[in-house]
Amino acid sequence: MDQHAPQPGAEGLAEPLRSRWSPSVYDDSHRLTSEEVETLLRAAQWAPSRGNSQPWTFFVCEPGTPQHDALVATLTRGNAGWVPRASLVLVSAAHVRTAEEPESEQASPFALHDVGQAAAHVTLQARAMGLHAHQFAGFDHDALAEALGVPATHDLLAGIAVGVLGDPEDVDERTAARDDRDRVRRPLAEWAFAGRFGDAWIAGGAAGGVADSQP
Ligand SMILES: Cc1cc2nc3c(=O)[nH]c(=O)nc-3n(C[C@H](O)[C@H](O)[C@H](O)COP(=O)(O)O)c2cc1C
Repeated sequence: MDQHAPQPGAEGLAEPLRSRWSPSVYDDSHRLTSEEVETLLRAAQWAPSRGNSQPWTFFVCEPGTPQHDALVATLTRGNAGWVPRASLVLVSAAHVRTAEEPESEQASPFALHDVGQAAAHVTLQARAMGLHAHQFAGFDHDALAEALGVPATHDLLAGIAVGVLGDPEDVDERTAARDDRDRVRRPLAEWAFAGRFGDAWIAGGAAGGVADSQP
């Protein structure tokens, strides 16, 4: 039984949404096959995007590769204890500018939305394959962009660490404790609106409905 899912309010979600969570204790001896890596990339490839613009780039960082070494060197202290143990990290970038000049025209106002959605698809595909995924943005973006040769038309965004659960005994206490944290969410009433901004959507309609019956 997975203590992390389903959470209250998530019981009605379909798999793999229902059992997804972001672990920090990975088995560092596990590796993905190249077919599995390709399938994860296919999940991003088939994500929807504005005008089918597909403004994403993903760097495939497997342990032992120069791009993985470059990523590990830029991780924040909080991420350095767990990210390197994952089987694979995909680092996303978005095509945000039409030219290298900082003031050049925006490539697409929806680029960040689209890359985030592609990342979500990778994350869910990973869960459907029996894997886990944990996204992270805690790394030195400028240093990694430089190391990976990212052109100024693109912004590096986030990493997706993918792998299988490891033994908490194999990691330091701080990293192990991360996976015991409660998963909490803002209540629906704070952000699901019916009508004008701030008017909470009510389950079952205004008559007899209850706002925020679930967390
Ligand atoms: C864009 C983005 C950046 C994140 N950055 C980090 C990070 O640097 N370190 C980390 O441990 N988790 C990071 N996370 C993971 C979130 O903390 C996590 O998804 C959130 O706490 C909800 O937990 P859950 O995924 O288990 O539901 C990030 C997630 C996203 C989507």
